[in-house]
Amino acid sequence: MLVQMIFASVAVEPDDAAVAKILTQGRSHNARQGITGVLCHGHGIYLQLMEGNRSAVNQIYAKVLQDPRHRDAELLYFAEIQERGFANWTLGHVRLEKLNASAVLKYAERLPLQLDALNGAAVRAMLLDLAATAAIAHK
Ligand SMILES: Cc1cc2nc3c(=O)[nH]c(=O)nc-3n(C[C@H](O)[C@H](O)[C@H](O)COP(=O)(O)O)c2cc1C
Repeated sequence: MLVQMIFASVAVEPDDAAVAKILTQGRSHNARQGITGVLCHGHGIYLQLMEGNRSAVNQIYAKVLQDPRHRDAELLYFAEIQERGFANWTLGHVRLEKLNASAVLKYAERLPLQLDALNGAAVRAMLLDLAATAAIAHK
């Protein structure tokens, strides 16, 4: 059973080294578990879409919730899917600040993005747009 989920959280000290470490750890673990997705960060928040086997996704999210590198995580979106949208990325990487503002504002009330104003379906549409326009760095 394939599922797709999105969560957002408040970053704790998100310097480049901290984000690089999350990406390295996440990529090797996700590859082993058949998880794909993308991690966005910027404006003090993390925003992640994860897809794959339902229990694998739930297990990783349970671990992520315990991670002290962020706080106040909120589940924005969860759905069963028939096909993946991010099969090319074990954990793609997007810096929100580097995106063209219009690519984000299209799906948000205002910039910078704020956790309590995020809409799960809109975030999903934004991420699919980013995937389609090659704005997601590998892998
Ligand atoms: C915002 C954020 C996103 C993360 N995303 C993932 C992920 O997609 N996959 C993953 O395995 N770990 C991810 N992690 C790291 C996990 O919280 C955890 O540190 C990692 O899975 C290693 O756990 P372990 O030492 O128990 O194996 C993320 C952490 C943060 C803060």
